[in-house]
Amino acid sequence: MTTVQLLIVALSAIVLVGVLGAFVIAYRRSESPGRPARSWRSGLSRETRKADRSALATPVVARPAEAAADHEVEVTETEATAAEEAEEESEEPVAAMQAVEVMRVEELSPQEAGVNRRQFFTRALGATFGAFVGLNGISYLAFLWPRLSGGFGSDIDVGAIADLQTEVVLNDGSILPKFVPEARAYIVPFAESDISRSQFEGSGVVAGGLTALFQRCVHLGCRVPWCDASQGFECPCHGSKYNYVGEYEAGPAPRNLDRFAVEDQNGRLIVRTGTIIQTARAIAKTVQYPQGPSCIALNAPTEV
Ligand code: FES
Repeated sequence: MTTVQLLIVALSAIVLVGVLGAFVIAYRRSESPGRPARSWRSGLSRETRKADRSALATPVVARPAEAAADHEVEVTETEATAAEEAEEESEEPVAAMQAVEVMRVEELSPQEAGVNRRQFFTRALGATFGAFVGLNGISYLAFLWPRLSGGFGSDIDVGAIADLQTEVVLNDGSILPKFVPEARAYIVPFAESDISRSQFEGSGVVAGGLTALFQRCVHLGCRVPWCDASQGFECPCHGSKYNYVGEYEAGPAPRNLDRFAVEDQNGRLIVRTGTIIQTARAIAKTVQYPQGPSCIALNAPTEV
């Protein structure tokens, strides 16, 4: 996973934890039982409330009977107290204080009431979680998706076929595979005349007298090095051996070295690394192995 992908995952986790914490705090506050509604007057002393003449402007001296009956009218305690005090102290006629302030409470439908705090946080949490999952999904897809251009997993131009043919076959006739890191493959010669007597005929793994072998040992995945002396590939991990066209020769490997489809495109060799081609152990070998001493210890594990 790249650094950018790690950063995206970490930021997503931090945002998710933060929103979750805010939601929990807000939810607990909104659910605290017995928490009284606070009024600005509740913090005042009795003398101060008496001195507050503004209370005279909104005295409450009566509650409409019909409103009390259907519980649609509510008068706050503070306002009732203020009205009584005002009535006691004022020398104005009672009729002058008949102003009634009521607070009418009407039930609203959920659509009319809109979104309350709990709904808001629930939806915010859901949206954040969705974004977190989405970002991670995109990161994983980007990580797993095969590259469509350039790099392993795509079609790679490994060079001019004419040049490669001279590179991999030396003047004395010995073989020297060319390793292409980008393709994770060895380019080795494979004579066109040998195709018909090999198991690779018609499989598209030979072009321009060349074939491309995957670097990984088919036993447990070690990278298989080339052995110049024996003219073959010999795995140092458990002793599997393959001839220079990747056919199985010895050791615990269950099959030939894997390979890629190749194509001659206007004299250039294209290796299709998006698909790894597996083949069974070769019964009849196409080329001779070994052609000299082995590079790995003679006491390597035997074939299983
Ligand atoms: S990984 Fe190559 S022989 Fe085991």
